[in-house]
Amino acid sequence: MSKLRRPEGSARTRRDTAAGLSATVFTVALVLVAALPAKLAAAEQLFTETQAARGERAFLTNCAGCHGYSMISIFARYRNAFDYFGVISTSMPWEDAGALPIQDYIDIVAYMMRENGYASGGAELPPDRAVLEQIQP
Ligand code: HEC
Repeated sequence: MSKLRRPEGSARTRRDTAAGLSATVFTVALVLVAALPAKLAAAEQLFTETQAARGERAFLTNCAGCHGYSMISIFARYRNAFDYFGVISTSMPWEDAGALPIQDYIDIVAYMMRENGYASGGAELPPDRAVLEQIQP
């Protein structure tokens, strides 16, 4: 049983090489897949669908009159969701800065996340700095 028989000789070697190569390619691909979307994955499922719907209503009621839907892409210009949350909760609505309940502002962030392609999950987005800083649009 210990005697290796290789009637097809070099063909076998080529197959082994090809198998080794595709294993390497597979490993490299796995490493890339694991590394690249890690940041995005960390920010997924941090809000609920219900919360985003509440945020949409809050946005339409309190913000859209001045901003319209162009405001949605502006979210992506911020370094992270904490910066965005900071700006809107301290300086908006323009004529009555900071007047809304904190819950409305955080719901608006959830709405911005949904509109910017983040997936919703089973827990609501909290007004928590450490959580919001993970979200880097
Ligand atoms: C009365 C009109 C008005 C309302 C209502 C209003 N905004 Fe604004 N908003 C402005 C104006 C004017 C600016 C520009 C301020 C500046 O350039 O300094 C602005 C700026 C912003 C910015 C910064 C834009 C940027 O380019 O980075 C954000 C974010 C924002 N508003 C979000 C909101 C949200 C969220 C609401 C609702 C809670 C809201 N705004 C309600 C008038 C309004």
